[in-house]
Amino acid sequence: MAYSRPDPENRLYGDLAWAWPLISPPETYVEEAETFARTIREGSSIPVTTVLHLGSGGGHVDWRLKRDFEITGVDLSEAMVGLSRRLNPEATYVVGDMRTVRLGRLFDAVLIHDAIVYMLTEDDLRACFETAFAHLRPGGVMITYVEAEPSTFVQNRTTASTRGGGDVEIVFVENDYDPDPSDTWFETTFVYLIRRDGKLTIETDRHLCNLFPVPVWTENLRAAGFRIEETTFGHSEFPEGLTYPMFVCTKPEATSAE
Ligand SMILES: C[S@@+](CC[C@H](N)C(=O)[O-])C[C@H]1O[C@@H](n2cnc3c(N)ncnc32)[C@H](O)[C@@H]1O
Repeated sequence: MAYSRPDPENRLYGDLAWAWPLISPPETYVEEAETFARTIREGSSIPVTTVLHLGSGGGHVDWRLKRDFEITGVDLSEAMVGLSRRLNPEATYVVGDMRTVRLGRLFDAVLIHDAIVYMLTEDDLRACFETAFAHLRPGGVMITYVEAEPSTFVQNRTTASTRGGGDVEIVFVENDYDPDPSDTWFETTFVYLIRRDGKLTIETDRHLCNLFPVPVWTENLRAAGFRIEETTFGHSEFPEGLTYPMFVCTKPEATSAE
């Protein structure tokens, strides 16, 4: 019998959102943001000025991207949108759901970064791609990548890192566990050891993330209307040889806007 899906807590984007810049600082996103900027320029057949970032989080990728583009970000969490507005006052941020939001304007490029892991069903994944397609100018490019995939998933992968310093130090423990490989999601459990001036508080947080084979991504991208080029996304801090499947998707010039 399938293990029934528990409710996620996602406290990192709610009451613990203050910890996001300590756990995952903007400087650590520069390399990937530069990869995205280059891929956007190379993949687009139109000049790119405006970029829509779906699931923009704390605006850490945007912190580098804004040097090259005019950024509009959409995120479900008011707390995260608050962080991104403070970090990037030059950008525009909207609270919204990337499955359903419609901003009533087109962009030269769309980025769907790590927030796509929260699309737990094929319907959600497709809805997110349809949002991207609906906001993309014909000839423009949308990029996204696959962080977890069934063939490379590591059961009980556990990592720990120490972040922050000064008054607040956080030891951040992350565990990935798939209770049922026959469905499309797994659990990521976070434990936060938070020390304020040496005094310890322990918090826990449960996230659910998607686990689709690559063909599910390509089928749903095509169904949304995109032409796809499959490539890979790498990072100097990944273990040797690790890359993620990345999709550089274009909206055919002949397609009407929405
Ligand atoms: C890891 S954070 C993104 C961090 C971001 N890449 C950055 O540069 O700071 C994941 C984000 O996905 C957002 N998210 C999850 N589901 C969403 C949805 N349906 N629509 C929009 N945002 C969503 C969460 O609120 C969270 O801010």
